[in-house]
Amino acid sequence: MFTRFRRKRLNATLRELLTETTISANDFIYPLFIRGGEGIKKEVSSMPDVYQMSIDKAIEECEELKALGIKSIILFGIPDVKDSVGSDALCEHGIIASAIKEIKKAHPDMFVVTDLCFCEYTDHGHCGVLNPKLETVDNDITLKNLARQAQIHAKAGADMIAPSGMMDGMVTAIREGLDSKGFSHIPIMSYSTKFSSGYYGPFRDVAESAPSFGDRRSYQMNPANRREAILESLADESEGADILMVKPALAYLDIVRDIRERSMLPLAVYNVSGEYSMLKMAGKMGLIDYEKVLMETMIGFKRAGADIIISYHAKEVVKILDRG
Ligand code: PBG
Ligand code: ZN
Repeated sequence: MFTRFRRKRLNATLRELLTETTISANDFIYPLFIRGGEGIKKEVSSMPDVYQMSIDKAIEECEELKALGIKSIILFGIPDVKDSVGSDALCEHGIIASAIKEIKKAHPDMFVVTDLCFCEYTDHGHCGVLNPKLETVDNDITLKNLARQAQIHAKAGADMIAPSGMMDGMVTAIREGLDSKGFSHIPIMSYSTKFSSGYYGPFRDVAESAPSFGDRRSYQMNPANRREAILESLADESEGADILMVKPALAYLDIVRDIRERSMLPLAVYNVSGEYSMLKMAGKMGLIDYEKVLMETMIGFKRAGADIIISYHAKEVVKILDRG
């Protein structure tokens, strides 16, 4: 039988020539958790090597990221005060607006993406304002607030807006909000297919954003639904999203491939907190060869069709690549 490139005929150089998928520092966006205060860098037990940082420490962190060749970050905020609407996120002096301004001032060359949602800022921990019966999020009022939050981030100097709340019509609302204030040049990377997932557990510790009642199933997606997952991303494309996203990544690589084959837009995956902590812990316990599994996982995301990987592992991956 005819077989092309039998593996035994490969020498090292030919193996490299034939490598279909590669990974580099350019593939990554690194998440940062910003809180108030000064000189604060606080590790959170559920995510080893991930920290809540005050703005001054985040500026130091950017120095390290740039030295590694990582030029893009996504910001999450932990406000001093939470309330029913998430006012900190609607204020030009809120934690993220301040962080964008100071980080861009210190590092104009850093590409600053902002996560656009309200769950970190509301006292009930849901991704928007609640409806009058206080049982779930009021989609349409939340859209207005998202447009306002996007304008604040753009005015502060954000380079890209990433709405993560899975509200219906969020891309249109944010696009119109940005365009109406002269920010038509700011791209939107939509969390277009975001599943209701147990893998977000550690993040909610770090971001202090677990919902105080109920869950996010009325706006996040059912993991069982493939066609709906594709439709959600295609809907965001038609609303004008510049980049689509699948989140979480590992259990949803089939969906990454499905969307890759149906849209010509760039596609991101979010390698979420639970995926990160599982690998870290298995490595720490000596159950797996951590670095090998890590690189295999990252290649898997790219092979499935991702252009961008949002990952807490980004720095480690680049250090491994640099070692060769
Ligand atoms: C905010 C948001 C979440 C994540 C990213 N943006 C939390 C959530 O939806 O509960 C999760 C990221 C992670 O787990 O690493 N909506
Ligand atoms: Zn949210």
